[in-house]
Amino acid sequence: MRADMETVKVSLGARSYDISVAQDIFTSGASVGLLSPFAKGVKVLIVSDSNVFPLYGELLARTLLVAGGSGVSESVFPAGETSKHLATIGDICRDAARAGLDRGSLIVGLGGGVVGDMAAFAASIYMRGIRCVQIPTSLLAMIDSGVGGKTGVDLPEGKNLVGTFYQPKAVLMDTLFLASLPPREMSNGFAELIKHAVLFDRALFDELEAAGDTLFRDHARLASLVARSCALKAAVVSRDEQERGERMLLNLGHTFGHAIEKVQDYRGLEHGEAVAVGTAAAARLSVRLGLLDADSAEKIAVLLRQYRLPVTVSGCEPAALLAAMSSDKKAVSGVPRIVLPLAIGRAEVRTDVPREAIEAVWEEVCERS
Ligand SMILES: NC(=O)c1ccc[n+]([C@@H]2O[C@H](COP(=O)([O-])OP(=O)(O)OC[C@H]3O[C@@H](n4cnc5c(N)ncnc54)[C@H](O)[C@@H]3O)[C@@H](O)[C@H]2O)c1
Ligand SMILES: [Zn+2]
Repeated sequence: MRADMETVKVSLGARSYDISVAQDIFTSGASVGLLSPFAKGVKVLIVSDSNVFPLYGELLARTLLVAGGSGVSESVFPAGETSKHLATIGDICRDAARAGLDRGSLIVGLGGGVVGDMAAFAASIYMRGIRCVQIPTSLLAMIDSGVGGKTGVDLPEGKNLVGTFYQPKAVLMDTLFLASLPPREMSNGFAELIKHAVLFDRALFDELEAAGDTLFRDHARLASLVARSCALKAAVVSRDEQERGERMLLNLGHTFGHAIEKVQDYRGLEHGEAVAVGTAAAARLSVRLGLLDADSAEKIAVLLRQYRLPVTVSGCEPAALLAAMSSDKKAVSGVPRIVLPLAIGRAEVRTDVPREAIEAVWEEVCERS
């Protein structure tokens, strides 16, 4: 195993597990040693999508066999959020049954956040729960969905309305997989990375600033920042797995962002882009409430733009956005719960923000077409 592998521990008692991050987990062969404790002597089902499986499915299947898997099969669904529904979970479970997976078997998720959410959801219910290993291949999945054990699917009535908390046995993050990720998807992941820096880590924020646009290509340096970001999220998840308190901080930018996605009927900005606008909006709101200085809010907006992310949105009505925000699933009796930065590296959750202040921020953030 190479020395530059970074390991982040997610501490959850008996359900603790390691996240391994490097730019060469698969090319160095370290993947065999990381997978064999879970794959040895058991049947394995790879869950993946139609973009990722043709790129890395063969490599993973071979690795699992070398790691001692007694048989490897696959369940591949069409790429994209539109696959993230209950019928696909049924298909995955049927593929598992046809391949003869039993209670000792293993599901491995290979793909972005959509694959991760569904592979883990299927693993959490197939035969009342079998083991799962996650191999996130998008930057967003490495930074966000690959850490923390939330699983889920969408209903026609709303996103992520059905799911479970289910921790994987291990997570392998190989940043070399990002070489094939479209640049817009890279930016989506950077939005969540910047979010973690604004929430918890001023030094990480400064490093992202100093990196210019090199992180779009420099997979070794990116691996070390991914590991740092995972450690920040893992620490929060270890203290508040079920999102009863501190984990709510991770929703920075999301109350605004979800409202944009909803008003655009999920056909406008992508999730990370909406979160970027939302993070800039939360910073503006903090300034308006006297909680953050204007220079810091400007620095946050500049960093988001540096990673090719928007900080304003066009073609939306502020009133519609405000209404969507009040019906957010995390709102308490119609009052949105908003995470507000207090400085770069520190934030808090508030439920007492005056409606007029939120409205004023939407007015600033919406570009009139
Ligand atoms: N469970 C959680 O805590 C959590 C957190 C954040 C987001 N999510 C969920 O994650 C999903 C979004 O994740 P996402 O942005 O990764 O979406 P995604 O899984 O749809 O991936 C984005 C696109 O990139 C492609 N792709 C992925 N890896 C690739 C690679 N290495 N090379 C080429 N193409 C690749 C995918 O096929 C897809 O087309 C949403 O459904 C969201 O709800 C879950
Ligand atoms: Zn998000």
